[in-house]
Amino acid sequence: MAGITVVGSGISVPDKVVTNDDLTATLDTSDAWITERTGIKERHVGGITSQMAIEAGRRAIEDAGLVPSDIDVVLLSTTTPDALVPGTSATVQAGIGVPGGAFDVNAACSGFVYGLVVAAGLAAIGSGRVLVVGADALSRITDWDDRTMAVLVGDGAGAVVVEPVDGPGDLLSWNFGADGTLRHLLMCDHGGYLFMDGKEVFRKAVRVVVESAERALSDAGLSAADIDLLVPHQANLRIIQAACQRLGIPEERTAVVIDRYGNTSSASIPLALDDALRNERVSPGDHLLLTGFGGGMTWASAVLRWRG
Ligand code: COA
Repeated sequence: MAGITVVGSGISVPDKVVTNDDLTATLDTSDAWITERTGIKERHVGGITSQMAIEAGRRAIEDAGLVPSDIDVVLLSTTTPDALVPGTSATVQAGIGVPGGAFDVNAACSGFVYGLVVAAGLAAIGSGRVLVVGADALSRITDWDDRTMAVLVGDGAGAVVVEPVDGPGDLLSWNFGADGTLRHLLMCDHGGYLFMDGKEVFRKAVRVVVESAERALSDAGLSAADIDLLVPHQANLRIIQAACQRLGIPEERTAVVIDRYGNTSSASIPLALDDALRNERVSPGDHLLLTGFGGGMTWASAVLRWRG
């Protein structure tokens, strides 16, 4: 059975940067409140999901030393597709010039981890390389007069190229979770704006992230001490810190980019992963723990032995 390895990474964010101070011009908020409660300092906005995904995808393919015709499948995780029909992945497939299939995955902010695991499943049943993209333009479904949401969100995309390899490959363990009875905690109806019960999401998020991450560690036969880098969903620095503390993983071994990007949903884990790669924080053989949670609610974790 074929395993997988990750051979390239790329990101894209829109040019427009909105700082916390910029938001105070239109909202009753402050840099101090946003920084203290969330860890966010600025975010990029004005993105279009397909365009960011195309750019991130191209960069990941180039980073892998490949060309678009080397890719068999485009898997796009997004909760903000360009349109309801068609799937945005088809636009990305055409935009990059990939010859193979394309489909969207929507598991909200957990979607990138879901996508990575699905790519591993495709590899196991004989697919070629899969371009896994997490891209979201939350700014498009945000009411910019609602201070409870507007200070949290940003736009972006991150992509990785997943390649089948002989043997077990780099994905050591994974798990998915969902609880649809909690859909009311974080939702957006057709044509509406994002709504969130922040306190409840916070409480639930810490619990499910810790449970899911601990299960992934135990299934991989590892402990927290074996993890070289935790790559968590970037929704709130305090959630990341609480999860680190409960898991026993020091913050120095955690990838954090929320200060620069805010919550970019499906893009947040690949943005954080790419940042760690660019800053040479990942070496071959390192153990990475990716863990996400989001609307649904959904959650997912995966342990990788990097190019192990
Ligand atoms: N600026 C200033 N004040 C604000 C504000 C803002 N942007 N938003 C809310 N407030 C006010 C509230 O009205 C409240 O005022 P009150 O005490 O007079 O009633 C006060 O700040 C505290 O609000 P509260 O909602 O209790 O803050 P909090 O500490 O729970 O932080 C969140 C709010 C949203 C940052 C936090 O709950 C959170 O991050 N939740 C999880 C978010 C998440 O993970 N989302 C993504 C899932 S993928």
